[in-house]
Amino acid sequence: MSRRPKVFVSAPLMGREAALRGVADVMVGDGSTGVRALLDGLHDFDALVALLTDRIDGALLDHLPRLRLVANVAVGVDHVDLAACAARGVLVSNTPGVLTEATADLTLALMLSLLRRVVEGDRAVRDGRFPPWTLDGGLGASVSGATLGIVGLGRIGQAVARRARGFSMRVLYTGPRRPETVERELDVTWTTLDELVAGADVVSLHCPLTTATRHLFDAARFAAMKPGAFFVNTARGGCVDEPALAAALVRGHLGGAAIDVFEHEPHVHPSLLDAPRTVLTPHVGSAVRETRERMAHVAVENVLAWIDGRPLPTPVAAPRG
Ligand code: GLV
Repeated sequence: MSRRPKVFVSAPLMGREAALRGVADVMVGDGSTGVRALLDGLHDFDALVALLTDRIDGALLDHLPRLRLVANVAVGVDHVDLAACAARGVLVSNTPGVLTEATADLTLALMLSLLRRVVEGDRAVRDGRFPPWTLDGGLGASVSGATLGIVGLGRIGQAVARRARGFSMRVLYTGPRRPETVERELDVTWTTLDELVAGADVVSLHCPLTTATRHLFDAARFAAMKPGAFFVNTARGGCVDEPALAAALVRGHLGGAAIDVFEHEPHVHPSLLDAPRTVLTPHVGSAVRETRERMAHVAVENVLAWIDGRPLPTPVAAPRG
């Protein structure tokens, strides 16, 4: 490159952006407008560091003819049009691995809160509605010994399975691959999605959002879940038909749902806000300081590698075909 590379960082990276300043001209957005700020004028950036709230589509790419790299500060890349990037020779990286444990921790936190009614109990105590202690009061569902169905046994699904074994849960999983050594190590059993849905007391999503998984959980799928079963989603909101989930909760078919991710964040479908027996959190799977710092670090390392002409440490493969 004949000039110093120009990098747009859509939001501050907990100080990690400083590592870029020695080798590039860096502009840091304020995070509230993200990469949309670029549509108003500037178009000579060579690399973008983007958050999962930044939509990287053909229209944005057309606005940035010099762009050659999108370093995504997230593992999920459903907000990036990978085909549009590939067609324009734009490389994409993500941050796999570093947020696995934090996201698995949150999944367990949600599951435990949901089944043992932690949030409901907290509200009752604060509202001065401390219930009389009776043998059948405040009953939740047992986590120990329950059957967990994991949809997607990637890094995060495996980390959840590992934790679930610590709670003596029986673990079923489904997904396109059957990694036999992982199956043996974690003592998990592969089933079809239909079998998993019919057999699990708790279904937890850990699949990426793709055209194959969009609304994977729709009205029919919720109806096929065991009566009283629980649903947990720390993957992507778009994998779920949210009004259908709300309807299954209102009907009383499901025991409850704990949801960290929503289809149209930051908008939460009103039916979910009104539905009973829900625990809702604002997409905080990776929200632990060390984890977020590592995510920023990995994104910056990808930009530095690209500037040096080295292979990206964590590239996202271009779609085939
Ligand atoms: C979080 O949702 C991520 O994809 O990193």
